[in-house]
Amino acid sequence: MQDFYSAWLERSESLEKTVSEAPRVAKGKNLNWVRTRQDSKAALMIAPETGFSTGGSLLMKAEIPAGWHTGKHLHGEEAIYIERGDGFMVLDDKRYNFHRGTIFHIPYRSSHQLFNTGKEPVPYISGLAWPLEAFLYMGRIEQIEDAGANDAAVLAKAPPEESQYWPADGRRISMHEEQFERSAETKHGATYFLMGRSGKQNGFKATAAAISSIFVDLPHSKSHSHAHPEAYLYALQGSGYSEIGGKRHEWEQGDAVHVPPGMMHHQHFNPNDVDMKELRFEFGIRYWFVDQWKGYTTIDRHMKATHMDD
Ligand SMILES: [Fe+2]
Ligand SMILES: [Fe+2]
Repeated sequence: MQDFYSAWLERSESLEKTVSEAPRVAKGKNLNWVRTRQDSKAALMIAPETGFSTGGSLLMKAEIPAGWHTGKHLHGEEAIYIERGDGFMVLDDKRYNFHRGTIFHIPYRSSHQLFNTGKEPVPYISGLAWPLEAFLYMGRIEQIEDAGANDAAVLAKAPPEESQYWPADGRRISMHEEQFERSAETKHGATYFLMGRSGKQNGFKATAAAISSIFVDLPHSKSHSHAHPEAYLYALQGSGYSEIGGKRHEWEQGDAVHVPPGMMHHQHFNPNDVDMKELRFEFGIRYWFVDQWKGYTTIDRHMKATHMDD
């Protein structure tokens, strides 16, 4: 019988192979929508279940129908982006309003529920570290209420919004698109730092899951060329392609791109006439490796965004 150590060596080799062969783009058009207790309509994008070699993280897209609410639950940290629509979230009995482009950070084990109060569906994008938390036996999800139609009496009783901050420790919970500030960074056409570890954090305290920033890549430009630990990009606008580990991957609005764990070199290209806008997620486990190994950090080959032909 094979000894455990030989099995580890084999596993080490097969892990490398898994990452090199895993998909890099989750196509928004090919999502497998399902109904869950939490969401009337939800689909995994980048996740272990969809074949991606994630570092214990996942990206989910969900949609709240007009006149509906999500379930109410609690679990590990979550980072949420509201793609369209109007409504509010109730987190630990406090209200936080949302509209197109609002970001939310859900603190570890805070109960939360989203209500759609507009006339259109509310699609939202969610980043979670659930697979890692489950592996560590730290991933208990508690379902308090299921998704369903709004009750007018419940909506009428919802408290008014008091603040975008969390009373427990003063950290930020929500931020609207019109509050995003453009940074001076030149790795892309424009960078807006949101709640990530790098750059400005705007009062958020995201440890496990963060929407770190929004990048804009200008027409006929390419981003800086670089390597770093795992990150996700969700294409908010435009289309283009990314070179990741020497392979080209095309994508368009509504797709999500996976830069896998490890130090895989990559660069993003906008060959078209319109701005390309990407929402970037990152997960705190990468910093556990950054702290251990100096090489496990961002390495820039070319520092700046430049014209495609440069
Ligand atoms: Fe949640
Ligand atoms: Fe990157």
